[in-house]
Amino acid sequence: MRAKLPIAILISGRGSNMEALLNACDAPDYPAEVVAVLSNNPDAAGLDIARAKGIPAHAIDHRPFRQDRESHERAMDRALREAGARIICLAGYMRVLTPFFVKAWSGRMLNIHPSLLPKYPGLHTHQRALDSGDTTHGATVHLVTSGVDEGPVIAQARINIRPDDTAETLSERLLPKEHALYQDALRQFITDQASVL
Ligand code: GRF
Repeated sequence: MRAKLPIAILISGRGSNMEALLNACDAPDYPAEVVAVLSNNPDAAGLDIARAKGIPAHAIDHRPFRQDRESHERAMDRALREAGARIICLAGYMRVLTPFFVKAWSGRMLNIHPSLLPKYPGLHTHQRALDSGDTTHGATVHLVTSGVDEGPVIAQARINIRPDDTAETLSERLLPKEHALYQDALRQFITDQASVL
């Protein structure tokens, strides 16, 4: 069996997608291992979840850097490289990345977004799907490029919208689909890209 590829996960909050990826990586035949969890938010609940599983988890608070977003991301980049990460998974990381960081991890950074991209990049995706009268909704795992939520799609999961759905019920029903989607998409990505990663 090939060695597991070292990955890092970036979070800003709850970390349920992160937790699902950590659990997937526990399986001996899963092709990745998580070597670091980083957050821009020291209060992110996901940091404690990762630590409880024995994963090195640190916050690099963006606030002391003020408007200097690139310096913050250079600090993140150093920490990620010191940890030996080869792939980054954004999982509820709520900051738009600078061109420096996107370029540094080009072809090696994945994101999960709660819509069927290219529909609804950005925020409030569940409400926007309802407001548009959509009958289906979903989540997308994609490669990160310089445009927000614009990179090539790796995989999508779809749910039907019910007449009585609200943004909250859609979000609740979609979340477990996201958890399954992200681990499947990461596995597929690593397998497909094995020769270049
Ligand atoms: C998820 O809906 C994800 O698609 C989006 O932000 C949310 C993060 O949730 N990018 P969690 O922190 O993984 O629980």
